[in-house]
Amino acid sequence: MSVIKVAILGFGTVGEGFYRTIQSHSEELTAVLGRKVEVAAVLVKNKQKERNISKDVFITTEFTDILNLPQVDVVVEAIVDKDPTYSFLKQAIQRGCHIITANKEMFAHYGQELLELAKVHNVSVGYEATVAGGIPVIQTLRQLLNVNRVQQIHGILNGTSNFILTEMREKKLSFADALRAAQENGYAEADPTNDVEGFDAFYKAMILSRLAFGEDPNWHDVDRKGITSITSDLIDIALQFGLRFKHIASIKKKGNQLIASVKPVLVGKEHPLYHVEGVQNAVNIYSDIVGQITLQGPGAGMYPTASAVIEDLVYVCQNRRANQGFTSAIESCSIVEKSQEEETWLIKGLLNTLNEQPINVIDQVEEGIWIVKATSEEVAQLTKLNQELVCFPIIGEFESEHDLAKLVV
Ligand code: HSE
Repeated sequence: MSVIKVAILGFGTVGEGFYRTIQSHSEELTAVLGRKVEVAAVLVKNKQKERNISKDVFITTEFTDILNLPQVDVVVEAIVDKDPTYSFLKQAIQRGCHIITANKEMFAHYGQELLELAKVHNVSVGYEATVAGGIPVIQTLRQLLNVNRVQQIHGILNGTSNFILTEMREKKLSFADALRAAQENGYAEADPTNDVEGFDAFYKAMILSRLAFGEDPNWHDVDRKGITSITSDLIDIALQFGLRFKHIASIKKKGNQLIASVKPVLVGKEHPLYHVEGVQNAVNIYSDIVGQITLQGPGAGMYPTASAVIEDLVYVCQNRRANQGFTSAIESCSIVEKSQEEETWLIKGLLNTLNEQPINVIDQVEEGIWIVKATSEEVAQLTKLNQELVCFPIIGEFESEHDLAKLVV
């Protein structure tokens, strides 16, 4: 029986999880692929470090050693940073290898180039593990929603942020303690700034946008914020309304333009993202035929990510290239846009600032805590007048004991 030879670049949480899964699921792989899968080589930074890798596997610190091996069919990349990773994957494709990546920063920057190069060299690209951990959202969008035109996506795309927000609310942990727990569980990036400042979710959102809408928005226009401004105090205020903080990436078409944001949002009980807790991720997709679907599952961690990579291994070995890339922009369609659409916001700040703007206040909980209806432009104007105001959009239903018993937004 012929053998599929795989090289793994990087042996951190993702690389090791994938290696172990190849061992634990070798029978299933052979049954599906009709060939045995063997790890031929692993690229590491430090050869001296103790690792649980079979003696038959070639371990090297030089990528060129991997390219020079007599047979490598698939290169699985599980390193961080976009460079030199992009160059490694380019060379792997040029050598005729299928590639699989879990590197969202790299793929958000260079995904299009790699997909085009792969087409030229008649190989496949797997990138399921770049977005939402173990949730098969990439395969769903590229294989199962071909005729549907996606109109809007809301996603909880960073497991670390969701885990921290959940721990702070449920266990009353400080931000620092919750972050430490996320790192100990192997959820956080090597540099957790990427998680808690929203960069990780931003890259994932850009990859989803390319796939669902055929393009990504101008990166500089995306309102990207992390969760570092969310305090226990704010979490308690939100709870008074039955709301939970979630870090949400949102992408929708407005006319010919894509509008995207990646930021903390207050979510009401009836919304599908309200119950997505801990390290779970979820992607809520609104498309014209099916309506609304929500995919939910573990967003980070060794085995959820290994699941995405191993399924990609099957995908690339079956060389399913027909629809492996991003859709064309024409295939997507815009939602009917109400210009200057009003949203509901929770605002914490001083009354006199609100009086300077004709804002539709619908509730006041206590001095300095407001629920208002306003466009994002009006809220931006308010925050210009008073930079100490903190404003969060609300999605879903929320409760109020004050002027209105229950409001649907
Ligand atoms: N650090 C990432 C997260 C890992 O927490 O979601 C999965 O991409």
